[in-house]
Amino acid sequence: MNIPAHVPAHLVYEFNHNTDEGLLSDPQQRFKELSDKFPGGLFYSPCLGGFWVMTNYENYATVANSPDLYSSREVTIPSTGGMYRLIPVNIDPPDHAKYRQVLAKQFSPPRMRKMEDDIRVLANQLIDNIVDKRACNFVDEFAEQLPVTVFMRMMGLPLDRLEEFRGWAMVALTETDPKTRMPVMMNIIGFMTESLQARNTERQDDLLSDIIHAEIDGRPITMEEAQAYCLLLFLAGLDTVVNATSFGIRHLAKDKTLQQQMRENPEIAPAFVEESLRRYSFVNIGRIVSKDHELNGQLLKADEMILVPQIPANLDEQAFENALEFQLNRKGPNRHVAFNTGPHNCLGAHLARIELALTYQEWCKRIPEFSEDPTVPPVLAAGPVMGMRNLQLTW
Ligand code: HEM
Repeated sequence: MNIPAHVPAHLVYEFNHNTDEGLLSDPQQRFKELSDKFPGGLFYSPCLGGFWVMTNYENYATVANSPDLYSSREVTIPSTGGMYRLIPVNIDPPDHAKYRQVLAKQFSPPRMRKMEDDIRVLANQLIDNIVDKRACNFVDEFAEQLPVTVFMRMMGLPLDRLEEFRGWAMVALTETDPKTRMPVMMNIIGFMTESLQARNTERQDDLLSDIIHAEIDGRPITMEEAQAYCLLLFLAGLDTVVNATSFGIRHLAKDKTLQQQMRENPEIAPAFVEESLRRYSFVNIGRIVSKDHELNGQLLKADEMILVPQIPANLDEQAFENALEFQLNRKGPNRHVAFNTGPHNCLGAHLARIELALTYQEWCKRIPEFSEDPTVPPVLAAGPVMGMRNLQLTW
């Protein structure tokens, strides 16, 4: 085991967020244990080439708000070695702002609110296919379908290829073997590139057109940059929503009182969305240290990687009293960091909140009292975006 000399022995702990058994059984509980084990808010794992792991809210906020010290030119551990670029997330301030601006208007709250009616109709169409079966794999039959369809419509990808695209998306988002995943990623990039080229010739009213006709710093965007936006939107906007809805619905399946409350009083959905994102956050973002410096007295060296998981921040007792408790009406604003904080805070947060709230409202309205099927345990996935691959429900 190669431990750098500046890392004290008491902070060393073998941990691999891509394969950890604890994360595969209960990611929130597992990170809570790690926070208790390292109350200083930081430890060092020698796995995957070695990296630091943040374990409290304060350190999370420091890292997220200090892009000069913690660069996002690498956001996955181990590093992808620059295999592909994701814009705007891989770009640090000050350049980041002009790249982010290209998407900002398209994801504004008024634009997103205009999509509400369509998303509600879509949620109901998906429920129509399931309701009479009295059982379903929620991930497969609802959670994955909704955001993929919303994404394709928003981008302007041809809906007659929805099934084909959905098939690719599922492999790209769930497959961990690069040999299987890479050819599918290439199909997705190829499909988006074709569509970008078509919009280059003939502009339409969709996000692909806005991207390919955008200007960055007064010059036309390049095709390589346009692809990097599309790839990020694909990776950031699908799997995240799938897992957030699955954790939320699983909580409702366990808490019948809250489930009934949602049925009778759907206005609680926005508060439910926030508390569920806090209690069941699931994204592990990565950063790379830009220069030698100390964080709470611990030396971090340039080019070291840091995992910045949201779970220990959102379950930190200093930030959230009785953090493991699900409290619909937490005192004060819910300062969770599920959508990150700082310059890279999630641009799709408004859209995600709408998709989540409508899912909880429509699901509870249409599906009678539902429970987890005790004979088919959920299958969880670890990695940069942790979540559920299977959630069997019955009603
Ligand atoms: C519950 C669902 C979602 C969660 C939990 C989530 C979470 C996050 C997080 C943690 C980041 C920060 C990444 C980093 O700093 O390394 C991020 C960034 C981003 N997200 Fe989301 N996201 C969600 C849904 C979406 C959706 C639906 C879209 C769009 C279709 C989207 C688009 C983006 C974009 C463009 C960024 C990059 C922002 C920047 O770098 O300035 N996200 N998201």
